[in-house]
Amino acid sequence: LTLHTIASKTKTKKKHFVAQKVKLFRASDPLLSVLMWGVNHSINELSHVQIPIMLMPDDFKAYSKIKVDNHLFNKENMPSHFKFKEYCPLVFRNLRERFSIDDQDFLNSLTRSSPMNSEAQGRSGARFHTSFDKRYVIKTISSEDVAEMHNILKKYHQFIVECHGNTLLPQFLGMYRLTVDGDETYMIVTRNVFSHRLSVYKKYDLKGSTVAREASDKEKAKELPTYKDNDFINDGQKIYIDGENKKMFLEKLRKDVEFLAQLKLMDYSLLVGIHDVERAEQEEVESEDNEAEEEGESDGGGIGTPPDSPSNTLDSTKPLSPGEFDPAIDVYAIKSNDSAPRKEIYFMAIIDILQHYDAKKKAAHAAKTVKHGAGAEISTVNPEQYSKRFYDFITTILS
Ligand SMILES: *[C@@H]1O[C@H](CO)[C@@H](O)[C@H](O)[C@H]1NC(C)=O
Ligand SMILES: *[C@@H]1O[C@H](CO)[C@@H](O)[C@H](O)[C@H]1NC(C)=O
Repeated sequence: LTLHTIASKTKTKKKHFVAQKVKLFRASDPLLSVLMWGVNHSINELSHVQIPIMLMPDDFKAYSKIKVDNHLFNKENMPSHFKFKEYCPLVFRNLRERFSIDDQDFLNSLTRSSPMNSEAQGRSGARFHTSFDKRYVIKTISSEDVAEMHNILKKYHQFIVECHGNTLLPQFLGMYRLTVDGDETYMIVTRNVFSHRLSVYKKYDLKGSTVAREASDKEKAKELPTYKDNDFINDGQKIYIDGENKKMFLEKLRKDVEFLAQLKLMDYSLLVGIHDVERAEQEEVESEDNEAEEEGESDGGGIGTPPDSPSNTLDSTKPLSPGEFDPAIDVYAIKSNDSAPRKEIYFMAIIDILQHYDAKKKAAHAAKTVKHGAGAEISTVNPEQYSKRFYDFITTILS
């Protein structure tokens, strides 16, 4: 933006004076408005807090809290009473930095427009949203998950430091508690495993177990079903990646699952998403055709489409051609190799890591009537065995 355009904009504003429109956090769900408000508040507050040379043990127990009453200025969009609590703000800021996420960009992604409902990831039951730009996933979690995060946060942080953020583990970027009408909701923000722009047409949730590991008919009826281990095998699905990518991927995976086993975490999955380059191109052409048809049908009303602006001068980045991605943003993306039958991009990372062995054992014990599933599996598999079985299965899908 040149100085000239800023100046002329200011002038325009003065000339046509209209009541100043306050930027509001509009969302269909009051909880999302509160999340947007809270993230804005938190990032702004943090921008005044100096970055410490190193994190202190207390930072891993810290939190910031704010209670808002009579929040009247945008009553229609926000509840008038709410509380917002951020857990371990300095730790998560440090993690964002280690994952190369700028705080202002993070803030923009979460507040420029309301997060969207999403069914794209994870197991059923949990509520998911993605940021409007699809870079981040916001998951509603339980208070037990929050406790588990606190249990593992120090070691997780240490691990991220040691691997320089180069991991397939979830990138935890912020954890919050929102209180509206006396109800507490916990949310955690992670980087999206899938791309913010390359669509995924098929996805799998893989655990390395074949017990009850196929998508239900109900699941299969969805627009983008989550298929499981047995589906992967029965589909004859292949992940075509070259030797170098495979080596790097498995090296990361091995370290990650060893770490999870040390923490006695289990039941996590590998989320796999597949982008088909030609298919996506085709779909784009079709949707453009549809748009053109709709325009043709409308009466027009004399208002022509604006002339094509001579490229977006504000955006200096080169547009990406089909199937290309920016590895700094789509950090999990891997291209298919030369012998693949189709040109594809794979997105693969570990999700749902917060299941602790002891908690699970307790739950299984309490529910003695459980015949199979959690109860049956627990007697045969511990976190160490789980990690081995998981790793072994993933090595077989890559060859
Ligand atoms: C975001 O936070 C800043 C700093 O606290 C504040 O001035 C601004 O009004 C907030 N934005 C909204 C829309 O509430
Ligand atoms: C491509 O991937 C397939 C499946 O993993 C593998 O069998 C094949 O050897 C790979 N080819 C190249 C050129 O890396």
